[in-house]
Amino acid sequence: MTSRAVQYARFGGPEVLEIVEREDPQPGPGQVRLAVRAASVNPLDWKLRTGAMASSDAPEQPVVPGYDVAGTVEAVGDRVSGVDVGDEVLGNASGGAYAEKALANAAGLTAKPAGVSWEVAASLPVVATTAYRGLALLGLGEGDDTAGKVLVITGASGGVGVIATQVAVARGVTVIGSAGERHLDDVAALGATPVRYGEGFADRVREVTDHVDAAFDTAGKGDLGALVALAGSADRVLTIADYPGAQELGVRFSAGADGEVEGALADFAAGVADGRYRAPETVVYPLEEAGKAQEDNRTGAVSGKLVLTP
Ligand SMILES: NC(=O)c1ccc[n+]([C@@H]2O[C@H](COP(=O)([O-])OP(=O)(O)OC[C@H]3O[C@@H](n4cnc5c(N)ncnc54)[C@H](OP(=O)(O)O)[C@@H]3O)[C@@H](O)[C@H]2O)c1
Repeated sequence: MTSRAVQYARFGGPEVLEIVEREDPQPGPGQVRLAVRAASVNPLDWKLRTGAMASSDAPEQPVVPGYDVAGTVEAVGDRVSGVDVGDEVLGNASGGAYAEKALANAAGLTAKPAGVSWEVAASLPVVATTAYRGLALLGLGEGDDTAGKVLVITGASGGVGVIATQVAVARGVTVIGSAGERHLDDVAALGATPVRYGEGFADRVREVTDHVDAAFDTAGKGDLGALVALAGSADRVLTIADYPGAQELGVRFSAGADGEVEGALADFAAGVADGRYRAPETVVYPLEEAGKAQEDNRTGAVSGKLVLTP
């Protein structure tokens, strides 16, 4: 059987993405094949596509982009337990999510709660796991002494930030979240005190609080120096998006190799299903418009989690 996928064989702008008809991928040991119902766009997808993060001039073989996926299990490889054909799941695709069929490691999949749409399910894996990891690395994880702590989150209106803000607030943390002017009300609705980013950001935070326990930079837009000053030392700050700034200032950069919080995705998905948490806003594009979706995410022209449906 064949099915459609988006792929690129050279690095470049959105024009390098093309729709191809390919043989359905076959699940190896520990893997399942999903009939994809939705995949979501993360900034990493277009950062990788440009080649800026590569050490060679071209991909070794054509790349199907995307990590975030939600779909129905339709084939199961050897040594898979606990996941069966017909299960509705969400998680990370291994080998590309922008496709009608995608492979995923069974062990990393989470059951999709019935009350969560496919689009929302696909929007969660990367941002939810990253948000929970960031909070845990800052000492604001489940079971930590979090009540009354003051946390500054940059990019509180973004994919990672929307989740980190809500989870921190639910743990009794006082969150001050930065966003652009158009999203300040959205950040307030998550239970945080919104502060506009840009020139004078640190002063605006100081108008709200005279004490900051920790800072989580999810935006990566040059605020690290201000965050270190606000928190009082570099070890109270974490960034997931500003590697050079982290190197320069001695701030911890987390890329994910430092371990995910077990059950993070299931916890947030359950919270969306039972109304404890708001899902990120989703905007849906057909698979054919993957390039436009990536550009709209890169430029910030469209807010929310951008989701592709085959
Ligand atoms: N290391 C990891 O494990 C990991 C995992 C996931 C993501 N990331 C990285 O984390 C970053 C955020 O990802 P995301 O999915 O949350 O992105 P996103 O949904 O595109 O959100 C971007 C956020 O940045 C804010 N922003 C835009 N311009 C800004 C500026 N000049 N100053 C301060 N904030 C600004 C946006 O605010 P407005 O929309 O209100 O303007 C928004 O809140 C990306 O660089 C991504 O690659 C890293």
